[in-house]
Amino acid sequence: MIDLSALREKPTLAGERVSLVPLAVEHADDFFESTRDEEVRRLTGTHRRPDYDEIRDWCATRADQFDRLDMAIVEDPGGRFVGELALRDLDADNESAGYRIALSAIEFTGQGLGKEATRLVLDYAFNRVHLHRVWLSVYAFNMRAIAVYRSCGFSVEGRLRNALLWDERRHDALIMGVLESDFRRARD
Ligand SMILES: CC(C)(COP(=O)(O)OP(=O)(O)OC[C@H]1O[C@@H](n2cnc3c(N)ncnc32)[C@H](O)[C@@H]1OP(=O)(O)O)[C@@H](O)C(=O)NCCC(=O)NCCS
Repeated sequence: MIDLSALREKPTLAGERVSLVPLAVEHADDFFESTRDEEVRRLTGTHRRPDYDEIRDWCATRADQFDRLDMAIVEDPGGRFVGELALRDLDADNESAGYRIALSAIEFTGQGLGKEATRLVLDYAFNRVHLHRVWLSVYAFNMRAIAVYRSCGFSVEGRLRNALLWDERRHDALIMGVLESDFRRARD
């Protein structure tokens, strides 16, 4: 049985090199900048360009969302914003939720921060929220992301052919999922 209070209470999760803190209005400037990063936009297949007010409103309303967790990834020590992630699309009856993560600039990638952040939030998802399953969609060209997800216990469950049209080329998306038992095995 999932514990909805664990989604309502908006925790701070401390790791070794990053902490996850509730996404809030103080992150709006950094979050907005990240939506302008062309490589992050390509990797996440983001066509839309939200304006600043939209991002600000999004950050300001995250604390009121009781069926999801939106978190800023901040560097330890120092507290620099390096990205954001979300547990979303909760399906409480089936104890399942979706996951997304994006570091905010390519300079922050490849240093282990995304893997640490993903492990932190999955640990919370399985051991505090008591979810059974977490899933995500990733473009098939995003080998770095796929490697991180695999190392956290995700495996590929399906392929959405030609799901993304980017710069006149089409790309497949992969559906990946991790069960609580997969995550435990990946950690041991
Ligand atoms: C995806 C993302 C969260 C990964 O986090 P990260 O901090 O960059 O990744 P890490 O440094 O923790 O780990 C990278 C892993 O990928 C591996 N890797 C990197 N490039 C690779 C490639 N081309 N092929 C295979 N593996 C690759 C690395 O070897 C490393 O694995 P290891 O720790 O076993 O050596 C981050 O890069 C990101 O947010 N990127 C921009 C947006 C994005 O792609 N979001 C995901 C959308 S689904």
